[in-house]
Amino acid sequence: MLVLGIESSCDETGAAIVRDGRYMLSNVVASQIEIHNRYGGVVPEVASRQQLATIIPVIETALEEAACTWADIDAIAATYGPGLAGSLLVGLTVGKALALARNLPFLGVNHLEAHIYANWLRKGQVAQTQSGADSWDYHEGDPIFPLICLVISGAHSELVLVRGHGQYELLGRTRDDAAGEAFDKVARVLGLGYPGGPAIQRAAQQAEQELQQQKKPVALARSAYRLPRAWLRGTYDFSFSGLKTAMLHLAEGATQHQQPILSTGNTREKQVSQYTRMGVQAAQKGTTNVGLLAASFQEAVVDVLAVKTRLAAQEYRVKQVVLAGGVAANLSLRTRLEQELLPLRIHLSYPPIEFCTDNAAMIASAAFFHLNQAEVSGLDLDVSPGLSLPFNKK
Ligand code: KG4
Ligand code: ZN
Repeated sequence: MLVLGIESSCDETGAAIVRDGRYMLSNVVASQIEIHNRYGGVVPEVASRQQLATIIPVIETALEEAACTWADIDAIAATYGPGLAGSLLVGLTVGKALALARNLPFLGVNHLEAHIYANWLRKGQVAQTQSGADSWDYHEGDPIFPLICLVISGAHSELVLVRGHGQYELLGRTRDDAAGEAFDKVARVLGLGYPGGPAIQRAAQQAEQELQQQKKPVALARSAYRLPRAWLRGTYDFSFSGLKTAMLHLAEGATQHQQPILSTGNTREKQVSQYTRMGVQAAQKGTTNVGLLAASFQEAVVDVLAVKTRLAAQEYRVKQVVLAGGVAANLSLRTRLEQELLPLRIHLSYPPIEFCTDNAAMIASAAFFHLNQAEVSGLDLDVSPGLSLPFNKK
């Protein structure tokens, strides 16, 4: 089955053609990073206008790159939530209109579920026909249920137990900021630009390389600043707002160090947090280093994500853990989680980087598994900006 997937939930316009939910024929993404970079984040109104300008050429390119005509396409799928209402509306409306015009089945896809299905996608392996042993729900190399999935994107951080196709149990979620949101906000504070995740990763890598050149252990970069971790023991919940505030105070301290904020008897002193003081001290010693700040921050996020995911994998006795969402592209997280899971013989898998961040191949993949269970959407389907994963009742 060939599905045309369309993704337009935020600032990326995507169209992809995927065979049998797994084998990518084309995956075209038009990014708006250049445009939003100058504002330090996504401007919703600008994003939706840009979606409108790029969606048709992106779909045409996806068909061309897959060497497909409309006659080859079996179904059309588009994201209907969660995301920015204006952006979602563009892809969803175009998807429904094309399905109506071509008399094809249409399916609205949950963007978060699609991030999970990115783990079913293979790059550069196009199976033209299914082998005898393959059924729609399992091809060799697919993730094995039950599994633990850590969904970490710009707006979500969730630990999910997946018992089978479409069977999700929520184990924990963030109580405040999402992991990606923390990366983006901290990158802005450190002046590293948007999107924050890749920028922080690069700055941290550079700091580690510098230590390596000085024949010092790279771990020194990750512990250069002692930052808080919200363990929220006994739960699988996350919280990143304390860490984000600590980073803000550190950066403020570093830039305000000439002001007498540490003098005794000053009422302001009482309000100065230990992190502001840390920033001031580093600045006074001349040791403020954005790379070390980035590496220490990244380590604090990775630490909590990796340990909590490993604990969940142990408690639910799964054989496989999968990563999903933009933050799954983080190399430090991948390596650390592998180290946590290897001694337990739990297999870690994650999508290739291009399938981690927003793309339409994952939309086509998720759609395939629903279409095979005879699910289709009506053409009256509306956008759902606040949609969450369809969790089972425990
Ligand atoms: O899944 P995604 O592309 O969009 C949403 O559905 O939100 O995730 C975007 C998020 C951004 O916050 C971005 O900074 C983060 O993923 N991200 C990363 C990396 N690449 C993207 N975070 C950490 N390390 C990365 N390498
Ligand atoms: Zn996403």
